[in-house]
Amino acid sequence: MEEYALQLKHVTKTYPGVVALNDITVDVKKGEILAICGENGAGKSTMMKLISGAIAPNEGTITVFGQEYERMTPALSRELGIEVVYQEFNLVPELPVSENIFLGMYPGNKVTPDFKKMEKETKELFDMLEVDINPKTKVKDLSTAYCQLVEIAKGVSKNPKILILDEPTAALTEKETGILFKLVKKLKEQGTTMLYVSHRLSEIFDIADRVTVFRDGQVIETRDIADIDRRQLIALMAGREISDTYPEKTNKIGETVLEVKDLCGLGVENINFELHRGEILGFAGLVGAGRTETARMIFGADKADSGMIIYEGKEVKITNPEKACELGIGLVPEDRKTQGVIQNLSIRKNITLAILKLVSHMGIMNFKKENEILEKHKNALSIKTPSFEQLVRNLSGGNQQKVVVSKWLARECDVLLMDEPTRGIDVEAKHEIYMIMNELASQGVAIIMISSEMPELIGMADRILVMSEGRQTGILDRSEFSQEKILEMASHEFVA
Ligand SMILES: Nc1ncnc2c1ncn2[C@@H]1O[C@H](COP(=O)(O)OP(=O)(O)OP(=O)(O)O)[C@@H](O)[C@H]1O
Ligand SMILES: [Mg+2]
Repeated sequence: MEEYALQLKHVTKTYPGVVALNDITVDVKKGEILAICGENGAGKSTMMKLISGAIAPNEGTITVFGQEYERMTPALSRELGIEVVYQEFNLVPELPVSENIFLGMYPGNKVTPDFKKMEKETKELFDMLEVDINPKTKVKDLSTAYCQLVEIAKGVSKNPKILILDEPTAALTEKETGILFKLVKKLKEQGTTMLYVSHRLSEIFDIADRVTVFRDGQVIETRDIADIDRRQLIALMAGREISDTYPEKTNKIGETVLEVKDLCGLGVENINFELHRGEILGFAGLVGAGRTETARMIFGADKADSGMIIYEGKEVKITNPEKACELGIGLVPEDRKTQGVIQNLSIRKNITLAILKLVSHMGIMNFKKENEILEKHKNALSIKTPSFEQLVRNLSGGNQQKVVVSKWLARECDVLLMDEPTRGIDVEAKHEIYMIMNELASQGVAIIMISSEMPELIGMADRILVMSEGRQTGILDRSEFSQEKILEMASHEFVA
């Protein structure tokens, strides 16, 4: 009997100026969960796109259940029972969730699709996945985490023989991740073969049987998960020993810079806190807790219904993001695809647009200064690209995120709202972002950090504001931090 579900043999994929995959050979055993690890730009997503047939290799072959192919096509891979849940969402914003799930294969006939059936089956699927989404909701009204859950549901609904998950948990909190893992374990029992890409290493140790490490487009090693520990795995990915701990805090908390009083609006009720110069204030909560909404209201991206914002001692009305920027408030948004960057512009233009005031004087560009700033951020966050002229959409997911973060760091804000700043970013670059955040805080910048990774909040924040169901359930001081405490407060249910 054939032992392997999937094999890539001597596969190479190049783009102009980039060797994304260089002569890789990967074997995936039937029924196993094979984790794929590697730093941003290592070639992980490229491999997944080759398997789904979205792109074709320059060289090499792909063998599925013993049958060898020169390349996959989307139709062929689907026919063979392969489903890919991509890192970047591929949902149609204007369509309801149910139609997105069945996209391309509506039940009923072509002229009159069976919408009722779609809704019913979507509901059943969501019940199984324990997600609370109305099938009639349009995708554009869903938060990032819910989009991710819809993508996963869509993949699972096809009953695949081989399921590929490319960073499925990047936008999820502990709770949804737990539900996903239950599902993954159930699929494994049913014999589904899975490929699993994640930068959250603890997840890999939790569910994978084996791990294959990629570095710079090459396969470095494959190991049984039982034969490797976290430190060794990181060293394999980076090619050297690197630090996986949180940098020591050196910031000093100063006077109040921002005060939020009784802030209310869509999905947010009575938020109250003070933010100080040099402070990192964490925002914790489950998906749907209202953290992003709160940040967007402070930034003027969403409308607040009532409440007061006091900035540097004066009440301010922040009615739009321009106003926030003028005051020195910045927002690194959670959804990079639609809010963070302009996909069809180069890295240079994306960063420069954000800092025009800094690099130009009376309409005349100072190119020397522009290049200095660009170089500084490219190096600080090791954005992997042949040049600044590369379009952002051609960057790997993690490298796009680095551009989003760079944009706002380059602006030099007094208050920085960061919504999941390390989402999809590899261990090494994460450490860089932590160092930069600490450095900014030491210089007196006040930072609000929204994160779904509890260890990250505990490692970085001075205080943590916990939210549940749109309301705050408390603010913890550093001495009171614990996962249990935060989770308990984040799960608080308000009685109607
Ligand atoms: N369409 C494209 N045009 C040019 N270069 C590309 C294109 N797609 C991918 N690349 C490059 O190929 C390399 C591998 O990218 P890939 O997306 O596979 O990385 P990854 O391992 O998934 O990283 P991440 O962890 O950031 O998601 C990167 O250097 C990327 O910039
Ligand atoms: Mg990727």
